[in-house]
Amino acid sequence: MSELNNIGVVIKVCEDEAVIITDESVFERIRRTDDMFLGQKILINEKDLINRKRLGKNYFYIVAAGIAAVFALIIAFSFLWGINNSSPYVYVSIDINPSMELGINNEDKISNVSYLNKDAENLGKNLKLKGLNIYSGLKEIIKKSKECGFMQVDKDKNIILITAALYKGGAAKVNEQKDQHFTKFLNILKNDLEDCYGDEINLKVVNVPAEYHEKSIKQKISMGKYLLYSEAKKAGAEISMQELKSDSLYKLYNIIGFKPDDKNSFNTVSKATLTPTSGLALTNTNTAPNESTPSRGMSPTPLPVNVNALPTTSAHDNPTINSPIVSSTLIPLTPKSESELCGGLKGEYYDNSDFTNLKMTRIDPEINYRWVEDSPDPIIGADTFSVRWTGLVEPKYTEKYTFYTFADDGARVWVNNVLIIDNWKSQRPVESHGSIELTAGTKYDIRIEFFENVKSCQIKMYWSSNSQKKEIIPSSQLYHYGDVYQSENAIISRSVTESTNTGYSGIGYVNFNNETGSYVEWVVNTAKSGLYTLNFWYSNGTKINRPLEIKVNNDIVTNSLDFNSTDKWTYWKNGYCKVNLKAGKNIIRATAVTENGGPNIDYMEIL
Ligand code: GCU
Repeated sequence: MSELNNIGVVIKVCEDEAVIITDESVFERIRRTDDMFLGQKILINEKDLINRKRLGKNYFYIVAAGIAAVFALIIAFSFLWGINNSSPYVYVSIDINPSMELGINNEDKISNVSYLNKDAENLGKNLKLKGLNIYSGLKEIIKKSKECGFMQVDKDKNIILITAALYKGGAAKVNEQKDQHFTKFLNILKNDLEDCYGDEINLKVVNVPAEYHEKSIKQKISMGKYLLYSEAKKAGAEISMQELKSDSLYKLYNIIGFKPDDKNSFNTVSKATLTPTSGLALTNTNTAPNESTPSRGMSPTPLPVNVNALPTTSAHDNPTINSPIVSSTLIPLTPKSESELCGGLKGEYYDNSDFTNLKMTRIDPEINYRWVEDSPDPIIGADTFSVRWTGLVEPKYTEKYTFYTFADDGARVWVNNVLIIDNWKSQRPVESHGSIELTAGTKYDIRIEFFENVKSCQIKMYWSSNSQKKEIIPSSQLYHYGDVYQSENAIISRSVTESTNTGYSGIGYVNFNNETGSYVEWVVNTAKSGLYTLNFWYSNGTKINRPLEIKVNNDIVTNSLDFNSTDKWTYWKNGYCKVNLKAGKNIIRATAVTENGGPNIDYMEIL
């Protein structure tokens, strides 16, 4: 620092110290004050410095994404909702064992505090949280919890669960800007807290559906505990309300078989990333117009971020909105797919009748096809092709099941690795069957193979048992493991995350507003460029089609992909389309093209 008084912007706040970047783009450690918050512009005096040692240049790269995120968020908040709104737009709950819920206003300051147990009440006596910035507020809570002995020494047992839900009710109507900024808010929260506590605490930041707020209030527990309760229920374990209220998180995690460092458990928020390059440009070329009216006591200094180092995201729909363009360009989410038990069987389609020349892989919710003299897809010839479906089948009753194929030409079926149907020859349509003892609720491997020689072709797959009338095996009883991008982790616009209708995976699905233009956007990572199938798992409880336009990297792939009725909102099927993806990041957007909006979308899978 060349002068005694210098201006800096706070880019990291920890318990006792903070890091600032000065006007000269130098990083300095300073003593933290109570009211310090990320993005704050402050006057620093030499006496504030913790030591004179400057942080290395690499530090620049590490925090650059964070700075971008903070600035973008702040700028966006400032422009979108004005200043001094005191009603919460997000609820954040923190479970250490003291459990609290904090209402956050649109300046990300704490506007409401609810203590959800005695420990929290006691802790609260020593805390002044209202009006504090959320990032500082959470650190205050963690600091006091340490002082009051609520933290464990063993890192494994030292667990903090932070859950956040966008507030849906009241005047705080969800809109596109809030949705997008909520996602970014979570990313910043996660990055910031992990940065400060990653070595000593197993800390999870989880985005939960909006209705968890109301549901948890009804039960008088935190949203975090409500999440554990729901996860336990899904995993078939029971946690009583008594246990939820009194037991430690570590014990609760054990009940549901969740390891705190198990990255696949829960849908945690992904970390913002920046690809470091040398020669960072010091101006932000993507600055939105009209950035001259900042709120929150700081000015929107040009960002020291090389926007060229960042992957570009799709252009924003509404050019009249100022700042989201800035923020969505600056903060890419790390695209992360998760291996999940998904609905339907995986079908591999070969252009020859002997499982050679694989042409496409797609998900089939059930096997019920009469292609007559057509082929399943234009890229496959109408004669001499073969299909192999693999996945799992779950019976509803414990008894002997009979499986049937109705096939032209050959078919064979394995259940639990036992070949129960073997009719592998060219023939006219014929029913074949085989039986096996099964246990209700167990998922068994199933493999169905089919080949078509010439002329007409069909394949249908039924089951029956004493209690089960003969029917096409429904999609609700067929599964496969897939790499999915959950909708609840995607960017959504004029849509909400919901968990009302059962049968979804993850913690919810996206419910498009009933209007044209509402959308879900996934940022995905593909190792190789090529032709892929996008599989959208959806439900549509109405009688009419709810088509979506699918765009990849801003190019329209199809302007109307059908999402026909699934009969009920709790019945799920898939819609799919084939797309070319480039290696690396791709942006896939599904937009409602009718005023009915879209179907409910659980996830997108890439095959
Ligand atoms: C119902 C259903 C929602 C769905 C909505 C719609 O309210 O519960 O999940 O999204 O209808 O018509 O879009």
